[in-house]
Amino acid sequence: MSSYDVIVIGAGPGGYVAAIRCAQLGLKTAVVEGRETLGGTCLNVGCIPSKALLHASHMLHEAEHNFAEMGLKGKSPSVDWKQMLTYKQNTIDTNTKGIEFLFKKNKIDWLKGWGSVPEAGKVKVGEEVHEAKSIIIASGSEPSALPGVEVDEKVVVTSTGALTLNKVPKKLVVIGAGVIGLELGSVYARLGAEVTVVEFLDAITPGMDPEVQKTFQRTLKKQGMKFVMGAAVQKTEATKTKAKVHYKLRKDDSEHVLDADTVLVATGRKPYVEGLGLEALNVEMTKRGQIAVSGTWQTSVPGVYAIGDVIEGPMLAHKAEDEGMAVAEVIAGKHGHVNYGVIPGVIYTAPEVGSVGETEATLKEAGRAYKVGKFSFMGNARAKANFAGDGFVKILADKDTDRILGAHIIGPAAGELIHEICVAMEFGASAQDLALTCHAHPTYSEAVREAALACGDGPIHS
Ligand code: FAD
Ligand code: NAI
Repeated sequence: MSSYDVIVIGAGPGGYVAAIRCAQLGLKTAVVEGRETLGGTCLNVGCIPSKALLHASHMLHEAEHNFAEMGLKGKSPSVDWKQMLTYKQNTIDTNTKGIEFLFKKNKIDWLKGWGSVPEAGKVKVGEEVHEAKSIIIASGSEPSALPGVEVDEKVVVTSTGALTLNKVPKKLVVIGAGVIGLELGSVYARLGAEVTVVEFLDAITPGMDPEVQKTFQRTLKKQGMKFVMGAAVQKTEATKTKAKVHYKLRKDDSEHVLDADTVLVATGRKPYVEGLGLEALNVEMTKRGQIAVSGTWQTSVPGVYAIGDVIEGPMLAHKAEDEGMAVAEVIAGKHGHVNYGVIPGVIYTAPEVGSVGETEATLKEAGRAYKVGKFSFMGNARAKANFAGDGFVKILADKDTDRILGAHIIGPAAGELIHEICVAMEFGASAQDLALTCHAHPTYSEAVREAALACGDGPIHS
């Protein structure tokens, strides 16, 4: 038995960041992880592998669609799927090994195996019981099941199976037009698959700015993706190589069937708490199956904390990381803080989508007066030169004070541009503060400034 100040369960972005910060603050720290490698969902089967495939398939798309016009002629590249999977795996490996290196550097013990909490102050891994003054549960999430749909991770797959298919399918049916469905759907569409997305609601990416939703769907359609909206999937039938997806259109209850080589089920994720022994420990849960926590990430059991996908809030790696740093500071007697109003969301398709803060819908619901400053990338010289003029920047600011309340961007590098708004919001900036800031020319960032100008006397280039 070993004794620690802190034992973290789970080495995803929440858990590994919490552990590193705990160690940096002088606490003796161990992490329990059951996977073969560190990094959790994000590094092994989430953010990192999906971004590698998005990057590779985007390069192919650029070569096929834009190279010739720039005077780059010759045979366009063909897809060596096996090599693409090797590239993806190498990307995962360098990142997961990087976390192992950081653990060694910070003298964090990796307790290999699946952990449970038999009582406050104790963590069991295999047959061994370890002591800890504080325990942080960062056990993450897993794909939600869909009634009538049996996942075999070969023909009917979750995102995990979709990252290791043995070939690019001819026909891919994606159930759910959320972040996973659209990112991985666009990977396979660019690699040559016929992709049909079946979505229950009438708009893609629920909760997002409606104008972004429309532009996003239109652009994905232009790229060859098909959409069946307002459709409730009833069941799938699969053989070893093919599947059928049965759905009912909500507007008239008519029944339809789609044929597929592969079906990707991407209808959301749920907290993963299996085997932790939370029920016996009497840990309070929310109605949605998340671990309930206080404002300082304490569960109902003293000394046991929880962070990341397993608690409420957006299931995002950076949200888990921020909570990881903050909870470590709380445990070390400092003041950990996460500003939940300024957590960006990014979709890494081309064009990218980035958003932060309030939407028009949330502002209307709150009865708050606001103004909108919008600027199209068609008026941005850099975007036009790079065939990236589709999309816009939209800034929402308080009608009276001009304080920035949110922003929604679809276009080139939206996932980077959104951070200018995040910083502005953290500093309580007004749209005019951004508009008065000199932005280098020619950059995509000028579109952000123009949208800020549009909140005042108007943009220059539209
Ligand atoms: P996880 O990363 O899920 O890590 C939890 C870890 O705990 C796992 O390794 C698990 O093995 C371990 N564990 C669980 N129970 C135990 C136990 N009892 N004992 C020992 N170990 C245990 N988010 C983004 O912000 N950007 C993206 O681009 C992005 N892309 C994604 C793409 C896909 C395909 C998916 C599926 C998710 C993506 N996400 C993305 C979401 C992101 O992966 C999660 O929000 C993030 O990983 C949550 O971190 P976490 O630390 O809470 O949990
Ligand atoms: P999601 O919640 O983003 O989208 C699920 C979609 O499925 C919704 O549009 C929903 O209406 C639809 N749906 C639900 N039931 C359905 C049914 N029966 N038939 C048809 N459609 C149905 O969930 P997703 O895409 O699985 O992603 C899970 C989580 O992973 C997200 O919360 C996201 O935060 C995270 N993630 C983040 C990424 C990023 O930050 N770039 C990338 C990938 C995942």
